[in-house]
Amino acid sequence: MKTYSIAIDGPAGAGKSTIAKALAKELGYHYVDTGAIYRTVAYFLDLWGVSPKDVDAVERYIDELTIQIAYDETGKQHMIMNGMDVTDDIRTQDISQKASLVSAHKVVRDVLLDMQRGVAQEHNVIMDGRDIGTVVLPNADVKIFLTASAEVRAKRRTDELLAKGQQADFAQTLKDIQQRDYQDTHRPIAPLKQAADAVLLDTSELDIPGVLAAMKKIIQEKIS
Ligand code: DC
Repeated sequence: MKTYSIAIDGPAGAGKSTIAKALAKELGYHYVDTGAIYRTVAYFLDLWGVSPKDVDAVERYIDELTIQIAYDETGKQHMIMNGMDVTDDIRTQDISQKASLVSAHKVVRDVLLDMQRGVAQEHNVIMDGRDIGTVVLPNADVKIFLTASAEVRAKRRTDELLAKGQQADFAQTLKDIQQRDYQDTHRPIAPLKQAADAVLLDTSELDIPGVLAAMKKIIQEKIS
């Protein structure tokens, strides 16, 4: 049976997960947050005190890691690391940076590639990440590159943290975002890049309902 896939790529904080989650619910697709898989690798290595830049150590330790993706009854994606649910533990600024560094290694990307393709073979998916349209699912039915200016993304992230009652510093958040943008776009393997056949959507001037409406239009044009 043919499965449909929608690839959403873009830089950190562009709103990919919020939008992809809402669309997946509406369309009855599986939502796959691939950044969470890289974060789980980074978290595992961090627990073992492995530097995300030490490729030899990363290669040695990665065989000890098993990752499962599970979904609860609300459709939320859970990351299971060696049998332990680490879904909430991987959402820190420190792990964001380490995930970005760890994701540059070929050995890590190779292991995760099969996992991501496996899910897309079995289910209709909306998958978000950095290289979904270019590498993971080059034949995706719909490809969207979602972006916004670094300042807008940093502002959204800061507001999100403040709304949760957490501390947030705009200047630091902007710096973190710019550093991750640089790392994710400059790595030699599967860098963050718009696929030639992806539709570019800049959300700087749009609110969430506006982005959703624009995305639905793009999807309807490709999948009738
Ligand atoms: O989407 P995110 O912020 O949770 O991703 C964390 C890091 O993982 C990101 O900075 C780069 C890496 N990543 C990647 O290299 N390829 C993907 N498909 C998804 C994420």
